[in-house]
Amino acid sequence: MNFTDRVCEAGIVPVVVLNRVEDAVPLAGALLKGGITFMEITFRTECAADCIEVISREVPDMTVGAGTVINVEQAKTAVAGGAKFIVSPGFDEETVRWALDNDIPVIPGTVTPTEIMKAVGMGLRVLKFFPADVYGGIKAIKALSAPFGQVRFLPTGGVSPDNLKDFISNKAVAAVGGSWVCKKDDIANHDWDKITALSAEAVKTIKEMRA
Ligand code: 3PG
Repeated sequence: MNFTDRVCEAGIVPVVVLNRVEDAVPLAGALLKGGITFMEITFRTECAADCIEVISREVPDMTVGAGTVINVEQAKTAVAGGAKFIVSPGFDEETVRWALDNDIPVIPGTVTPTEIMKAVGMGLRVLKFFPADVYGGIKAIKALSAPFGQVRFLPTGGVSPDNLKDFISNKAVAAVGGSWVCKKDDIANHDWDKITALSAEAVKTIKEMRA
């Protein structure tokens, strides 16, 4: 199965902000226990690259990628440390080109038809839609998928248990992203059981909606 099919099958890619490398492996374990097999570690904290490195080494069942990648240097650092995919909040042509040239799956953020056209022109078919709630949520995705039927979206930003069903039941949605299954406070409090429970709940909803 290729990367795109695997992401679509997984249905969820949590957006993770880690402040301590020690939290990386237990968090990956908690997500896995809840049935989540993909995670995006954001380059918003100093330790992001180290967290990716330790998870890719110690938690082989987790497909770990790098998020909030805003330039090619970060992409190179992430991949050198073991990141299996790159997610960006926006569309940076140089980063996308580098990822494609190096066979690294890349999911740039796009919200306008013009950005989507650029990404499609470079051969991409799975695109992040961020911040999803601000840019029109599922209503916008439905409208965009009329001209861009070949694209599947990864909405993130404001996805929650309240709107998960609306997003995931739409065929234009490859998977959802978000931080609600691994909130900052739950990570800080090492509440791994809660993270597992929230993950399991999200996975159950996704399976039910897609059945
Ligand atoms: C992202 O980078 O995709 C967002 O910060 C996630 O948004 P959320 O915290 O609203 O889920």
